[in-house]
Amino acid sequence: MSKSIPSSQPALASSAVVIMAAGKGTRLRSQRPKVLHEVGGRPLLSHVIAAASHIAAPADIYVVVGHQADRVRQSVASTGVQFVEQAEQRGTGHAIQCARAAIAHYANVLVLSGDVPLIRPETLEQLRAFHFAEKAAMTILTAAPQDPSGYGRILRRSQDSPEVDAIIEQKALTSAQMSIPEINSGIYAFQTTPLLAYLDQLRPDNAHGELYLTDMAALLRSAGARVVAIQAAQAIEVLGANTIAEMMELDAALRLATAKRLMAAGVTIFRPETCVIDAEVEVAADTVIEPFVQLLGHTRIGTDCRIRSYSVVEDCTLGDGVLIRQCCILAESSVAEGAKIGPFAHLRPGSEIGEDAHIGNFVETKKARLGKGAKANHLSYLGDATVGAGTNIGAGVITCNYDGVHKHTTRIGEGAFVGSDSTLVAPVHIEDGAYVGAGSCITRDVPAGALAVGRARQITKEGWVAARRARQEEKK
Ligand code: UD1
Ligand code: CA
Repeated sequence: MSKSIPSSQPALASSAVVIMAAGKGTRLRSQRPKVLHEVGGRPLLSHVIAAASHIAAPADIYVVVGHQADRVRQSVASTGVQFVEQAEQRGTGHAIQCARAAIAHYANVLVLSGDVPLIRPETLEQLRAFHFAEKAAMTILTAAPQDPSGYGRILRRSQDSPEVDAIIEQKALTSAQMSIPEINSGIYAFQTTPLLAYLDQLRPDNAHGELYLTDMAALLRSAGARVVAIQAAQAIEVLGANTIAEMMELDAALRLATAKRLMAAGVTIFRPETCVIDAEVEVAADTVIEPFVQLLGHTRIGTDCRIRSYSVVEDCTLGDGVLIRQCCILAESSVAEGAKIGPFAHLRPGSEIGEDAHIGNFVETKKARLGKGAKANHLSYLGDATVGAGTNIGAGVITCNYDGVHKHTTRIGEGAFVGSDSTLVAPVHIEDGAYVGAGSCITRDVPAGALAVGRARQITKEGWVAARRARQEEKK
């Protein structure tokens, strides 16, 4: 990725991208900056940066930050984009004024809004191509959504003309203009020279007393420059997220799009509108997802799996033919081919469940590695533990991995059998093929093939109940 501002000669053929992300998001009533609110499992701004990154190198993408600038900067720093400060937020026009020095060396600049997250790179390409083809000073990306209220409207020269006379903000609309269906998306392409030549002529003579970038349309137009508009194919991708309700609409649209992508690739998703699936999740064909499942983060799922209702899988890798029964929670773990999990199992980070292994009802694992065919079917806690292939962990077995200060490891070999309700006090090693009697408290290593029983011997007193009753009768 080369920096495209050569020190001696301006790279006039190139384009910069400016993403306006300095606003507070007053309409959200939230402490969190608007662009860090999430749809589809990631912040609005991350979506916009991802789209921009398809058409420009990070070194040419400038994010205008202001409200809680450090927080915004930090959350997307890893993308390698550049930042521009807008210390006081005096409107979208002012945001671009603050980016003046950054963009001066580029021939063109694409302006995106940090709160319009569903924009696709293909649409940005079309906008840019149209801008070049029209040789326009300003090209506005527009749409005709079902409900245009709240958005700036596009005043075209005439109905069929690509040329635009002005953008009128909602609060300045005359009653006749209210019915204009075409809205401003807040996404534009500019030739930098005319933009910067007229940018300082913006005036705060509007409802908010701000410098509106939208006023550039009329400004450039009256200076004789060419201002055109191109309509996006789908309105949804240019809708803004100003309120939580609007964000949740976009969230639903985004997740449904992800579900459709997976279904087109052969995955069955029952009632997809009830499932929460993050954009980067991958699922192979012939896997079945039941209603009310959440698949989050970088989860990868193989073929022929079934994820039953109410399970939440985050940042996990599942092999082929895995069954996740109802109500399981899996995080940062892997489950190999043919394994069966749940119902009501909790795989915490670092769990590695081997091929054909079983993790059953109310079993919790953490940093636990189970070998091929190992089974822990009921009511167990396996933390910081390895369990060899074919080993059976009885109901209620607990690894005592924490001494109040440090975590210790339990190692259980292959083909071993740990009786129900045993506690294994780590560090401890149960070797291959060893048996542990039910109800044992194991504090020392058990050698291969041995039986360890660590419990009090049973005492049985014949006739004790009748004798006690007789004594009680006497006292009366
Ligand atoms: C803006 C447009 C409107 C358009 C709509 C599309 C203006 C005046 N209006 O309205 O025509 O229909 O977007 O979604 O531009 N921002 C800054 N600095 C500021 C103010 C805003 O960086 O000083 C950023 C915000 O963080 C946001 C973006 O610019 O990401 C748009 O600002 P917002 O206040 O949401 O504008 P809208 O009222 O939605
Ligand atoms: Ca907005």
